[in-house]
Amino acid sequence: MSGSGKAGKDDGKKTISILLVDDIAEAREGIKKLLAFEQDFKVVGTAANGREGVQQAKELKPDIVIMDINMPDMDGLEAAGLITRAMPMVGVIMMSVQDDADYIQKAMLAGARFFLTKPPDMDKLYTTIRNVYAQYEPLRLQFKAMSEGLMRPIEVEKEEGAGDRPGHIIVVYSPTGGSGCTTVATNLASGLMKEGIKTLLIDGDLQFGDVGAFLDLRSQQTMVELIENLDDLDLDYFESIVMTHNSGMKVVLGPPRPAIGAEIRDTRPDAVAEIINKIGSHYDFIIVDTSHTIDAAVAALLDAATRIVMLVNPTLPSIKNARLVLDMLDQNGFAPEKTTLVVNKAVDPKTSKGVPTPDKIQTYLRRPVEGIIPAVDERIILGAINRGIPVIASDRDTTKAPIKQMLDLSNHLFKQLMGDEEPIAEQPTAKTSSFSFFGRSGDKRK
Ligand SMILES: Nc1ncnc2c1ncn2[C@@H]1O[C@H](COP(=O)(O)OP(=O)(O)OP(=O)(O)O)[C@@H](O)[C@H]1O
Ligand SMILES: [Mg+2]
Repeated sequence: MSGSGKAGKDDGKKTISILLVDDIAEAREGIKKLLAFEQDFKVVGTAANGREGVQQAKELKPDIVIMDINMPDMDGLEAAGLITRAMPMVGVIMMSVQDDADYIQKAMLAGARFFLTKPPDMDKLYTTIRNVYAQYEPLRLQFKAMSEGLMRPIEVEKEEGAGDRPGHIIVVYSPTGGSGCTTVATNLASGLMKEGIKTLLIDGDLQFGDVGAFLDLRSQQTMVELIENLDDLDLDYFESIVMTHNSGMKVVLGPPRPAIGAEIRDTRPDAVAEIINKIGSHYDFIIVDTSHTIDAAVAALLDAATRIVMLVNPTLPSIKNARLVLDMLDQNGFAPEKTTLVVNKAVDPKTSKGVPTPDKIQTYLRRPVEGIIPAVDERIILGAINRGIPVIASDRDTTKAPIKQMLDLSNHLFKQLMGDEEPIAEQPTAKTSSFSFFGRSGDKRK
């Protein structure tokens, strides 16, 4: 799923690979001739109906598909839907003689990026193709980086002196920035600190990691030193870099400056995942906060994860991005159970009409929502950050939102990953059994 097509765009000059799908041979030929005048276009295939179009698109991975709507044996709308679902980085341009609003809307809902009336005006066709190609550039690059990362398995070295702990790696990720990853990761780490359980929090956001800011921790010794000594990293050295928060939480901070993190990300994208694999067996849980970018460093972490806690906010861009990434994980053979979907900043459906409910979100993402953390007054979270402590440690009342929901999520993961081992609740009122949404029991999961 590199999406780079077969037109060899890596040769320095960009060539836009195009698949033409139209049941009328003359129409296909007509467009092909028009496209031949321009050097940056290359028609890599043609298909005479929707079904064939989908098949060809999967095989050729073109950058652009130009798709007629009315065709026998699967029309263009259905075919466009199937193509964009399987390959979100392919730009589909719909074409039809009919151009009423209803048609255009249907085309857009099917995932098309642009609608042209037939026969197309030559200049408009050229500009549209180049524009759609440019719009998809970031997505293509992200998919390329991520899929290369996912396809390059990390070498796991079972070094001498491996520990005897299960080493569950919980990666907290969201494809959309500001979704609450750092908030949830710091609270999960706090919630998973149980008696006899070794828990570690790692800031895996190499560039803009803010675990240190959330927990009011500063150190000269960070992930950077670990990476510099990666080849002969041993537990003693590792633990000398680990900081201890005054709650007892063990933490590895991220690079002190974004530029250093960016360099690591570009030169050794697997580094953090490798460190985790090396020392994992000395801990019960390692919680990793990540950045929302889709790059090889994040891919390596998702690969290394025992569990991905994917956060989604009830906004359309957040849900759409989550779907893209879930599709990508599916395509890379990730078991669906590896991902725990959590809605953060959920709002009460009774009072906020129009905001996607957790039910709607799980239907759209075709995956159970396993945790719902309500949107609370931001002062509650900022207050905890100002004190440098996780929210769940900021108040003794564990029935309050979002403390209750964060504890429920920690306990849910603890149970799932540790099986029979009952967590010893540090906070006596924490329940392990059910989530609730504004006090209502929400058994929306498995
Ligand atoms: N459940 C919630 N209710 C209200 N505000 C929240 C909630 N969760 C997080 N926030 C707020 O949202 C903002 C972003 O949270 P956070 O920094 O944890 O997200 P992030 O995904 O780590 O962001 P970034 O992409 O910057 O790393 C913060 O101001 C935080 O206080
Ligand atoms: Mg963050």
